[in-house]
Amino acid sequence: MDTIRQNRKADHINIALTSPFTLSSDFDELSFIHRSLPEVGMDDIQLQTNIGPLTLDYPIFINAMTGGSEKSGVINASLAEAASETGIAMAVGSQHAAIREEELAHTFKVVRKKNPNGLVFANIGADAPLDYALKAIEMLEADALQVHLNVPQELVMPEGERTFTSLLAKLEKLSAKLHVPVIVKETGFGMSTETLMQLQNAGIQYVDLGGKGGTNFIHIENERRSKRDFEYLKDWGQSTVVSLLEAQSELDELTIIASGGIRNPLDAVKSFSLGASAAGIAGPFLKILHDQGVAGLIMELEVWKEHLRMLLLLQGAKSIPNLKQCPIIAGGKVREWCEARGIDWQRLARRKP
Ligand code: FNR
Repeated sequence: MDTIRQNRKADHINIALTSPFTLSSDFDELSFIHRSLPEVGMDDIQLQTNIGPLTLDYPIFINAMTGGSEKSGVINASLAEAASETGIAMAVGSQHAAIREEELAHTFKVVRKKNPNGLVFANIGADAPLDYALKAIEMLEADALQVHLNVPQELVMPEGERTFTSLLAKLEKLSAKLHVPVIVKETGFGMSTETLMQLQNAGIQYVDLGGKGGTNFIHIENERRSKRDFEYLKDWGQSTVVSLLEAQSELDELTIIASGGIRNPLDAVKSFSLGASAAGIAGPFLKILHDQGVAGLIMELEVWKEHLRMLLLLQGAKSIPNLKQCPIIAGGKVREWCEARGIDWQRLARRKP
């Protein structure tokens, strides 16, 4: 059994659970305009959303975290129970360990067992060959495959990868050959217009921006290093808000998913307003599961569903696509980023609902 990998999984969970969450967030630089007369009732609100052929009953999902060790199998079972109970989609963590060692597969398969009818996303790294992708999907009877990009994490990880030369070609092949949507996903470092164009040119249609602002894998991997000499790099990358703004020119071509530092339903609704079709939450849901158990997580997910409805109502939006017409104002550092990069923040501020 690969004990280095197993210990790494446990470290990721323990450090993620004890890391202080970032206090300032680019989501706080975004404001909606209050509408006193929304002319909508709660019963009019529709939370369904689509990722290509998939229909999600709710626009939030539990993002990729774990699997591959006995303890993480128990966490996956609990997350899947909460997902099944609430009708929310769920991704698992990287399946590489279980593809290499069949005896670990049950720590992922439990997710499908607990949630036979729900939407489940498989997860592998972008360096994985096609047969790994097929095995990952088959292991879960998955509805989609997330392929994660995590170059900064690998570099800070002492035992991490050092060569990243043919990832784009591999992504192109995966997306052409697989029968389920391939979601290319960052892991807390965000994306730029240039990256999105590279993905689009490679035939990718679904992208999870995975921005900075929440779980920070430079911090997590740095904590695992004996010298802890990478703390200075922990602010690397684009926030989820900045990544969404970078994605504005690509929204007609790509289905965008927001994740990374989404703390509450308002952050999610701001992401939908900037064009995201769904929002993934990882660390915060793990913490609730850890502190309050499955019942606590189910309660929290129900609160999110209810609050999302209320927030759409506040904006007079009956559906997630309707939110894309609501004006949203970017201020502070976020506006400065837009100015520097030629992103038209005034168009967003002056949209007509
Ligand atoms: C992760 N994340 C992750 N992502 C991925 O694609 N494959 C993986 O195996 C993991 N593993 C993992 C473990 C743990 C403990 C956490 C907390 C997270 C990253 C995750 O899906 C997400 O991109 C980031 O955590 C940012 O979102 P949050 O946590 O800020 O909501």
